Amino acid sequence: MKIAVASDHGGYQLKEAVKEYLKGRGIEFVDLGTYSEESVDYPIYGQTCAKAVAGGQAERGIVCCGTGIGISIAANKTKGIRCALCTDVNMAELTRRHNNANMLAMGGRITDRETALKITEAWLDTEFEGGRHQRRVSMLDEM
Ligand code: RB5
Repeated sequence: MKIAVASDHGGYQLKEAVKEYLKGRGIEFVDLGTYSEESVDYPIYGQTCAKAVAGGQAERGIVCCGTGIGISIAANKTKGIRCALCTDVNMAELTRRHNNANMLAMGGRITDRETALKITEAWLDTEFEGGRHQRRVSMLDEM
């Protein structure tokens, strides 16, 4: 599985931690920026990562900003993207099982590194349940 990662300055440190984690597991990834803690605009990075996932350059995406809110809003503007902002492992598992979330958002000023990596692990390793959830996901994709 190839993962696209992106962040603004507020999520930069968390993005770097996620990259280390992916590297450790041998999961291929592409880093779409930002590449420092200099202030940038989160909509650009949310959209860039979403386009990479929707366009098939990556299977899934992980985005981080200060809260995870702005960058997830930006990502969800792209058709076919289901970006879930998660603050705990339960949310990460449920959004995979029920929403088939193809992007994960987290907040660098909200979620500590250890929790973020547990969230990332759960989100990567949990499968979509399909069934009645597929009908609802299809409804989302048609909106
Ligand atoms: C940047 O200061 C901050 O607004 C951004 O990282 C994010 O939290 C937006 O939702």
